[in-house]
Amino acid sequence: MCGIVGYVGEKKASPILINGLQKLEYRGYDSAGIATIENGKLSIVKNKGRVSNLNSMPETEKSMGTVGIAHTRWATHGIPSKENSHPHYDNSNTFAVVHNGIIENYNEIREFLKSKGYVFYSQTDTETIPNLIHYYYTLDNDNDSEEKFLKAVNSATKDFIGSYAIEVISYLFPDITIVARKDSPLVIGSGINENYIASDIPAILGYTNKFYLLDNNEYAIISKDTINFYDISLNNIKKEIEIIDWDSTAADKNGFDTYMLKEINEQPTAIRETIYSRIPMKNNKFEKCNFQDLGFTKEYLSKISSIYIIACGTAMHAGLCAKTMIEKLCRIPVTVDIASEFRYRDPIISEKTLCIFVSQSGETADTIAALKLAKSHKATTLAITNVIGSSVTREADYSIYTHAGPEIAVASTKAYTSQVALLACTAIYFAEILETSDTNTLDTLKNDLLHLSEKIEEILSRSNEIKEFADKVYEQTDMFFIGRGSDYNVALEGSLKLKEISYIHSEAYAAGELKHGPIALIEDGITVIGILTDKDLAPKTVSNIQEVITRGANTLIVTNQELSTDNYDSVIKIPDTNSLISPILSVVPLQLLSYYISMNKNLDVDKPRNLAKSVTVE
Ligand code: G6P
Repeated sequence: MCGIVGYVGEKKASPILINGLQKLEYRGYDSAGIATIENGKLSIVKNKGRVSNLNSMPETEKSMGTVGIAHTRWATHGIPSKENSHPHYDNSNTFAVVHNGIIENYNEIREFLKSKGYVFYSQTDTETIPNLIHYYYTLDNDNDSEEKFLKAVNSATKDFIGSYAIEVISYLFPDITIVARKDSPLVIGSGINENYIASDIPAILGYTNKFYLLDNNEYAIISKDTINFYDISLNNIKKEIEIIDWDSTAADKNGFDTYMLKEINEQPTAIRETIYSRIPMKNNKFEKCNFQDLGFTKEYLSKISSIYIIACGTAMHAGLCAKTMIEKLCRIPVTVDIASEFRYRDPIISEKTLCIFVSQSGETADTIAALKLAKSHKATTLAITNVIGSSVTREADYSIYTHAGPEIAVASTKAYTSQVALLACTAIYFAEILETSDTNTLDTLKNDLLHLSEKIEEILSRSNEIKEFADKVYEQTDMFFIGRGSDYNVALEGSLKLKEISYIHSEAYAAGELKHGPIALIEDGITVIGILTDKDLAPKTVSNIQEVITRGANTLIVTNQELSTDNYDSVIKIPDTNSLISPILSVVPLQLLSYYISMNKNLDVDKPRNLAKSVTVE
């Protein structure tokens, strides 16, 4: 997905811009480019391919400009090519723009501009932006001024339907950049005699931890020592600085070969940071869960007749775990919905519905659209995300955060386990308010939650066992994951991980459903991974696994039960915990399995083909 970086200061901008883009490479991209102001002219260096290619281009070496904008593109309109790469100029080479998002009415704007004599050289929606800015700028008879520049940007953005985060520079104003956003993230990092811009905090976290988060329909004029904010009517507005306490090294690999392995190993810390403050204790006794940031009352929650959990991908799988928890502990019916389905199927929601949106990035376009739909039906909306100030948190009535730190690998790991842990605390919190579960049950669950981190550490210390199994099966082309109850939810996530990073076709089935079709596919040597952590359901799943063994399957069992190991090819024993939260443990061997298979196949674990970390377009 596209990424934006910008710099206004006293230093040579290009190395800072390229460094920032490299921090955003994890988002997935196909081309990259930078624009700087050089001796009173705009200079653009761009091409398809890797960011590192920019370094070796002669224009980059010559560039001395101290103001610049930069972009990594993930093609939406037009193929990956030099022409379609950002930054884009207007016809007179006065304005250069980088853009994240989609201008949905770009065709109309293009036709309009063509009728005024403008010519287009790319297939992108973005090329309309600098030209429309130029159009408004030249329409205005006032003398050149920053105010006139801002007005032109404002007029242009008002014509756009769609989403955008943009940075604009012009040789007419060599000391500033103007930025604007709507439905696409943009942050401004504040430094001394320099300021930074980025679509994502990690891009510039190495330079500053002080950020302004631009909201929808806001603009800023940024110079090296001033940042002035404006609303859509161009009134001056004040914004608070936010201190982001992510360690900049947290966004680096920290000695691991890949981000994914680092993030798998960070899960104990991520969970601790996410839930410990939610589960307070006094004199060795549990107090009620701490959700002062929600402050729901019994009167309010009693009126909620149903809950929707809406998300995409891995976050949706975390939602499935939450359904089991909330229904069991709170006795409120929960529907888990894929955001891209929910938004188009006229869901039955009202002011009696609570809609929970789970999103690691907080920027997933379908999830944001579903959230807006829920709001329009007057449902209460609660966002669960990992990114402070992300779009879902701006839209939702309430927001609570996982504290997993930046997740860079495209395949989500620590965000998932943190989401499940936070959702478990939320379910307990609801149950405490509604008094739908006894204190003893809830306290036992809290105790289990607090011990999860050390249990994950134990699983991680035995990663080699999983690697051995991966070494045996990595050349396979199909695999099955089966389980019942919470174990089925994990099967879905395990299967998704395998597809994402190892490109092996896999299916997850509720173990009891195998006999209704998929068992026809089981033949000699097919790998079936069984997850068994719920002691009430384990005997049933054991029978289903027996059925596939009889048909020649090669089995890996992830379990906390005492099973006779002779029956299975491999058994990964994991620590016991409450079955409601066992996905947080049982998913770890499945993450590692996909990881080792991907490594064995020499694939790009962190940046799998065709996938993007943050899907900010529909
Ligand atoms: C993309 C990512 C997945 C992620 C999904 C939802 O598809 O590749 O890893 O689960 O988006 O992302 P979100 O940021 O909303 O959790």
